[in-house]
Amino acid sequence: MTPVEPPWALLAELTHGCPLHCAYCSNPVELVRRNRELDTETWCQVMGQAGRLGVVQTHISGGEPLLRPDLPQIVAAADAAGIHTQLVTSGIGLDAARLGALTDAGLRSVQLSVQHSDAQASDRIAGRRRSFADKARAAAVVREAGLPLGLNVVLHRDNLDALDAIVGLGLDWGADRIELANAQFYGWALLNRNQLLPSIGQLECARESVEAWRTRLGGRTELVWVVPDYFDGTAKPCMGGWGAVSLTVAPDGTVLPCPAAAALPGLDPLTVRERSLEWIWRDSPAFNAYRGTGWMADPCRSCERRDIDFGGCRCQAYALTGDAARTDPACRLAPDHPLLRGIVSEGALGAPSPAVPRSFRTAAGRGGRV
Ligand code: SF4
Ligand code: FES
Repeated sequence: MTPVEPPWALLAELTHGCPLHCAYCSNPVELVRRNRELDTETWCQVMGQAGRLGVVQTHISGGEPLLRPDLPQIVAAADAAGIHTQLVTSGIGLDAARLGALTDAGLRSVQLSVQHSDAQASDRIAGRRRSFADKARAAAVVREAGLPLGLNVVLHRDNLDALDAIVGLGLDWGADRIELANAQFYGWALLNRNQLLPSIGQLECARESVEAWRTRLGGRTELVWVVPDYFDGTAKPCMGGWGAVSLTVAPDGTVLPCPAAAALPGLDPLTVRERSLEWIWRDSPAFNAYRGTGWMADPCRSCERRDIDFGGCRCQAYALTGDAARTDPACRLAPDHPLLRGIVSEGALGAPSPAVPRSFRTAAGRGGRV
């Protein structure tokens, strides 16, 4: 058996609490309630275990991690474990004092989200008034502190046409890196897929804009284009392979091969309360379920790209076919690819109802399930 290499990245979802209500959120519809979150001491232990396991980078995320008053202690524990920490935030609540405490604790970089280049549109998509102004202030505070700033923008039908202005905004705010992330359909985004799916024309224009910006910028600011795999005919190498480079710890301590895997039936992931991070990573059935290529059926089993894209995304295969072990329908060679083509053309017709805003209240209203 091939030895299991250590992971290099940990996504630490400290909380599912969030001041925003974005319909494209990839958090599970069944949000973890605040009273079920891990306490400070356990998160600090998780960081220590992650460092010993070999993790070199953690994305401290949520929900909104700034909702945790103990954030500096958790960052300090990660830093003490030799892990590079990046805060992934909406920017709501990030002022100079808060950022100062985090940088003193060892925070190395910040990734800030924004929903649109236009303040009103951004507030509408985020479901919170004046959130754009808060984000602009947060960006300024990060720049003043001299930390690297990444801007993350989830792209969908409602903002793709503003791509030029969005890149312009990122440059105005002093971003070192702008991540143009076409919406991926998990959790709330899957629930709201028909409201979010763009048209092929929108995507083509946006792609051309990105190329033009790259030429103009000449590498001075990094522009990342996260591929819209529903449209491309190719499967993405999701998470760099299942249990290959990264692990996620959910707010209640559940350890997952990816943030969306909580929705997979029969996976039975363990929590950090039950076993060590190292045992879960190397030996747990959940992490070994789709590791490597041995689990694959045809067409992936005999495909020359199986070590490049790992058969695509297991969560997407489950969401679209009900079987996580099937070839991701995003791949044009997948037997289920026509299903995806149908969804894309249906999406082009527009959605009959408004999107469901992400919140604990709307989650409860749906019994926490899609
Ligand atoms: Fe990737 Fe499987 Fe498609 Fe081959 S058949 S390109 S391995 S998803
Ligand atoms: Fe879970 Fe792709 S999101 S494997």
